[in-house]
Amino acid sequence: MARRKIVAGNWKMNMTPSQAKALCAELKDLVKSEDVDVVYCVPAIDIVPVVEAVKGTNVKVGAENMYFEEKGAYTGEISAAMLVDAGVEYVIIGHSERRDYFKEDDCLLNKKVKKALEAGLIPILCCGETLEQREMGVTMDWIRLQIKSDLAGVTAEQVQGMIIAYEPIWAIGTGKTATTEQAEEVCKGIRMCIEEMYDAQTAEAVRIQYGGSVNAANAAELFAQPNIDGGLVGGASLKADFGKIVNYK
Ligand code: 13P
Repeated sequence: MARRKIVAGNWKMNMTPSQAKALCAELKDLVKSEDVDVVYCVPAIDIVPVVEAVKGTNVKVGAENMYFEEKGAYTGEISAAMLVDAGVEYVIIGHSERRDYFKEDDCLLNKKVKKALEAGLIPILCCGETLEQREMGVTMDWIRLQIKSDLAGVTAEQVQGMIIAYEPIWAIGTGKTATTEQAEEVCKGIRMCIEEMYDAQTAEAVRIQYGGSVNAANAAELFAQPNIDGGLVGGASLKADFGKIVNYK
């Protein structure tokens, strides 16, 4: 069975609650789609208004982060149960900005992935190499290490329902998209890694997105690749262009 495409916006630290509501209203008709899953991953403070704003539409809501502990003295953190109760279905885990600026390592991310799954959230697990790593020729080694560490102890059945996002760090927010060949090569490599770790059925089922300067002009070619099942979109998810990315065909 063909995998269903999934296009998710990652709003990052943009949109106040009132701006968020206005953006949802602006995009409402533009992101309608019968055959693509559409997700807005929004800042924590926008979750409640965005869940309300997308009611009755095809849009699902995601968080940009969460903590793995159940509850307690973790000032500033948000639990998986809080997200679920607020109507969130997806959660980005291990975005390169969190790995880099907030020093999140694979050991922590593994705990977050497991907690998200246990709570019934769908993790969008991010991985990706720096430009230096690409130039040194260690891209796939690095990504395999990330995937293997972040998915330690996760079952095949759980992986089948997950999303993995390949985001080369040098392509994020730079306007410098990976070539279609580069993006497909790594997404295929990730699928092979999943097959090695689990089995062919799991590798076939897991959805793998490309992220990094996806826009209305390059989405169609990227999403047409056999191992690219959609995109994780930053800058272009904050404007009307996002509708064109969802309806890329
Ligand atoms: P841009 O689309 O702005 O390059 O961001 C990509 C990204 O980081 C999505 O998570």
